[in-house]
Amino acid sequence: MLRNMGSQPEYPLCLEIGCGAGIGAQVIAEQFGARKVLATDIDPEQIESARDNLMPELRDKIEFKLDDAMALDEPDEKFDAVFSFGVLHHMEDWRKAVKEIARVLKHGGELFFEEPFRPFLRNFLVRSLTTHPEGGEFDYEEFKTALLENDIEILNMRRIRDIAIFCVGRKR
Ligand SMILES: C[S@@+](CC[C@H](N)C(=O)[O-])C[C@H]1O[C@@H](n2cnc3c(N)ncnc32)[C@H](O)[C@@H]1O
Repeated sequence: MLRNMGSQPEYPLCLEIGCGAGIGAQVIAEQFGARKVLATDIDPEQIESARDNLMPELRDKIEFKLDDAMALDEPDEKFDAVFSFGVLHHMEDWRKAVKEIARVLKHGGELFFEEPFRPFLRNFLVRSLTTHPEGGEFDYEEFKTALLENDIEILNMRRIRDIAIFCVGRKR
């Protein structure tokens, strides 16, 4: 679904933040026309399991690296696309990550993300079963404003009421 929401036929250099066990990075490599995917996570155990899970035929395309999405160890305007699959709501300060994503995206580069909103995270059942930092909570208006403040306009989105958003943004 996200692939169809992007505007470009391919995205040669991609960054994924919060790659977890590495499944998303393999999807990016196979479906987004990536020549190279740098997949990052703040947790060394996740990076280790992502390396273990990597399909041998994708070894040349995907690199895993320990990095904090709130302070990325990458130069400005490097990437054609940045991906965040369910990561911002795990941050102590999600706005810092949006700022960093905007910094490392090329002009015209695209951000693909899916995230739950505050009302979902505050749902009794979700709170009982999971732990998330308050600094990772936002609603649609807050999210849209933060993107615009960082020169990212929403290209396409699919919003599920107050629950979650699937979205592609483009850096001006
Ligand atoms: C819910 S998991 C999502 C994993 C993967 N994207 C997926 O869809 O399966 C959230 C991931 O974000 C990572 N994470 C949390 N804070 C982070 C940060 N500041 N920088 C980079 N990764 C972070 C966690 O270690 C975890 O792997």
